[in-house]
Amino acid sequence: MTTELHAPSRESARPLLRPGSRIFVAGHRGLVGSAVARRLADDGHEVLTRGRDLLDLRDAARTGTYLKEVRPDAVVLAAAKVGGIMANSTYPVQFLEDNLRIQLSVIAGAHAAGTERLLFLGSSCIYPRLAPQPIREDALLTGELEPTNEAYALAKIAGIVQIQSYRRQYGASYISAMPTNLYGPGDNFDLETSHVLPALIRRFHEARRDGAPEVTLWGSGSPRREFLHVDDLAAACVTLLEAYDGDEPVNIGCGDDLTIRELAETVREVTGYQGQIGWDASKPDGTPRKLLDVTRLSSLGFTPKIPLRDGIARTYAWWLGQLPAGQ
Ligand SMILES: NC(=O)c1ccc[n+]([C@@H]2O[C@H](COP(=O)([O-])OP(=O)(O)OC[C@H]3O[C@@H](n4cnc5c(N)ncnc54)[C@H](OP(=O)(O)O)[C@@H]3O)[C@@H](O)[C@H]2O)c1
Repeated sequence: MTTELHAPSRESARPLLRPGSRIFVAGHRGLVGSAVARRLADDGHEVLTRGRDLLDLRDAARTGTYLKEVRPDAVVLAAAKVGGIMANSTYPVQFLEDNLRIQLSVIAGAHAAGTERLLFLGSSCIYPRLAPQPIREDALLTGELEPTNEAYALAKIAGIVQIQSYRRQYGASYISAMPTNLYGPGDNFDLETSHVLPALIRRFHEARRDGAPEVTLWGSGSPRREFLHVDDLAAACVTLLEAYDGDEPVNIGCGDDLTIRELAETVREVTGYQGQIGWDASKPDGTPRKLLDVTRLSSLGFTPKIPLRDGIARTYAWWLGQLPAGQ
C-alpha cells in the first residue's frame, strides 16, 4: 500500500475542506462526536446532526434518504457500538453487526449523496495484540488480534478497507483515523462499562466522599497506556480533514504513555483522595504496553495541547457538574 500525504496546494481550486462546509457528524452525542461537533462549529462550519431516536444509522435505506436530503459536503463517522472488555465479550454479535451496518449505511450513503469528504473513526484495537511498540499504521493485518474484542476490531478493519475501496474504485477523498484511549467531558462514568480513566476518577471521588481508607485496583499497575483529551482528538480530526488525503489510516495519539500506577496517582491527587492505593495482582493486567506511533500525524503539523493532569482536572470538574448535589 502506498501512502499519499498531500496538503492542498496553493494553486488548487479545491481545498480538501472548504471554509463554512456543511458537515454531518454521526454520533454527535458521544464522547468523540460531541467534541468534533463543538470544534467544527467553533471553526465556522455548519454542523448537521440527527439523534439515534430520529435516525438509526444501522438502517441503510433511511440513512441514505437522510444524507440525500441534507447533501453534506463532509461526514465525520463517530457513531459506533462501543464498550469495554466485558461488553465486547458478552455481545460480540452486536459489536460486529451494529458496527458493520453503521459503516455500510453511512459510507455508502454519503457516497451516493455526493459527499466529497469523509473521516471514519476506528480504534487502536484494530492492531495485532503483539504489534511492535509504538504501533505504526503499517502493523495493520500483520498478526493476531486481541481475542476479547476481535468482533469489534474486525468490523473496524472492514471499515478501513471500505474507505480504501471507495478511494480506489471511485476516487473518493475518504480517510480513516485510529485514535488512542480518549477521555474528557462526555465520557462514560458507569463503573460497569466505563474505560479506565473515568472509572479511576469515580472510584477515588467516591472513596474520598465515603472516607474509605483504601482503593483497590485491578492488576499490578505496571502496564503502560496512552491517553488523549478528546478536544485534542477533535483538533487532530480537523487537521486530517484539512490536510490528509491518503489510503492508509492515521494514528491519533499524544506519542507518550505512562503506567496505570502513575495514572492512578495523578487521578488520586486531582480528586484530593488521601487514602492508600492497593493493587490486586491476582487480576489480569492486559497487554504490557499500548502506544501509537504518531509520526504520520505529527508530519501534518498536529501537536496535542492539553497536558494529562489538566485534562483529568477538567474532566473531573465536568463530571462533578453532572452529579446530583451531595454525590
Ligand atoms: N472513547 C475512546 O476512548 C475511543 C478510543 C479510540 C477510538 N474511539 C472511537 O471513536 C468512535 C466513537 O466512540 P465514543 O467513545 O465517542 O463512543 P460513544 O460515546 O459511545 O458514542 C457513540 C455514539 O454513536 C451513536 N450510535 C451508536 N449506535 C448508533 C445507531 N445505531 N444509530 C445512531 N447512532 C448510534 C451513539 O448514540 P447514542 O448517544 O444515542 O447512544 C453515540 O452518540 C468509535 O468508533 C470508537 O471506536 C473511541
